Amino acid sequence: RSVDSRIEVLLDEPLGTISPNIYGHFTENLAGVFYDGIWVGENSKVPNVGGLRKAVIDHMRKIKAPVIRFPGGCFADTYDWRDGIGPREKRPRRPNFWGNGDPKQNVKHKYDPNEVGTDEFMHFCREIGAQGYLAANVRSLPAEQFQQWVDYCNSPAGSTTLAETRATNGSREPYKVEFWGVGNESWGCGGDFEPGQYAMEFRRYATWVPGFGMNLKFIASGPNVEDYHWTSGFFEAMQKRMGSLHMVYGWALHHYAWNLSRGKTNDWDKGKGEAVNFDATDWYELMKEGQRMEGLIEGHWQVMGETDHEHRVKLVVDEWGPWYRPGSEATPGDALEQMPTLRDAVFSGMTLDIFNRHPEKVAMANCAQLINCLNSLYLAHEDNFTVTPVGHVFDMYAPHQGGQSLRTIFSSPQVKYERDGTPATFWGLRGAASLTGKKLFVTAVNPDTSSPRESEIAIRGASAASGTLTVLSAPDIHAHNTFEHPDAVVPRRNELKVNGATVSLVIPPASVVAIELELS
Ligand code: AHR
Repeated sequence: RSVDSRIEVLLDEPLGTISPNIYGHFTENLAGVFYDGIWVGENSKVPNVGGLRKAVIDHMRKIKAPVIRFPGGCFADTYDWRDGIGPREKRPRRPNFWGNGDPKQNVKHKYDPNEVGTDEFMHFCREIGAQGYLAANVRSLPAEQFQQWVDYCNSPAGSTTLAETRATNGSREPYKVEFWGVGNESWGCGGDFEPGQYAMEFRRYATWVPGFGMNLKFIASGPNVEDYHWTSGFFEAMQKRMGSLHMVYGWALHHYAWNLSRGKTNDWDKGKGEAVNFDATDWYELMKEGQRMEGLIEGHWQVMGETDHEHRVKLVVDEWGPWYRPGSEATPGDALEQMPTLRDAVFSGMTLDIFNRHPEKVAMANCAQLINCLNSLYLAHEDNFTVTPVGHVFDMYAPHQGGQSLRTIFSSPQVKYERDGTPATFWGLRGAASLTGKKLFVTAVNPDTSSPRESEIAIRGASAASGTLTVLSAPDIHAHNTFEHPDAVVPRRNELKVNGATVSLVIPPASVVAIELELS
């Protein structure tokens, strides 16, 4: 057998501990994410736990979902948390950001009934065993309301008036929310600020917020893709003002991949590629857009380091994933919903491996968005539910959580393809490795749509006694799981032949693989 690619794992070159929180999620209050997705209501015939869809809870426990972001997104800067507490039948109905109250908008839930608020969301987190990450409204609520939301969530039982309100609403015990976003996309929908103005707002909101015995972790609204001006502007403004960077735990970064290669227009919807009808060139161009994430992490990290010399502030990639044009929704009318295919699974494996390779820089990441939305792990409608190929990737990658990331060298032939008649290339194999006790865990993606990789893993510094290989792939690159055919793309696990410090394996075309090795 001729080997064409190698994965060399360097056990004595640890890179840092992989934060479990890079396997986090994002649930914005829009369209079908909550209503019909997570929230079915207590009287629904759909199996539920206090109104929350049981299938979602069960699957999120299985993948060890560590943290969930709520309520947005752009929605966050329109949201008044007080609308979402107390008896549900008395809660006000408001225009939702994603329908803007426009009766002509063809989206569901353009008016928000506020049935899901802080208590329902925190109940969801508790059932899963995940932490909540709440994003505060900086654009349209005063700082006082941010402090009161923290009070409502975190004040000890029987202490403040808001602790009593919380108890009346069902939770005597505080929710102990540690992660607080101060606005969202504050350069855009979150207020159209300049970086210096936003730094001022950040300080106003985050200064002297009562911690109720907790060390709150504030996440500042960071850049969209390569907006280095936003990063340097904020960091410099914060540093000038008595070195107030110590107030910032995380610097948020957003990156969506639009598959623009064939986009012939600037139209917000039509300029994007299609979720299911794509060709091999679209596939590679989307991967290229996703690979940009690595440069964004390195680039912003460098700019942050110019002011934050000790790198106290970490990156929080709290929105990532592909975003296609409308038309592939499993449930018509669900704004922003798209059908995840095998391509999105490979994209997601690639992205998670980028985070795995930068453990000292990335403290948290949140895939946008969990269910019935963009790069969703799950699709649901009434009593239908399915795990998407992206959901399977999160399941396969869970053993990396908390592991020691190891420097790993991937070498393989490049993929060659054509873009509008011009030759183009993309890398042929990449991934990440981590060590937890005696378990060595390697994940990788083969982005080549037609060629397998005849591979060899070389473990430098130890030998393997046994191993398994889990493969997620399908004969058709467009394969996806529907309510009718939920098993078109599912992982398959097999024993792996190991030979001391060398492991041979074939990595099929268009695949995501997870290799678990027991070191001797
Ligand atoms: O995830 C959808 C939207 O994308 C979010 O609301 C916003 O933050 C981003 O622009």
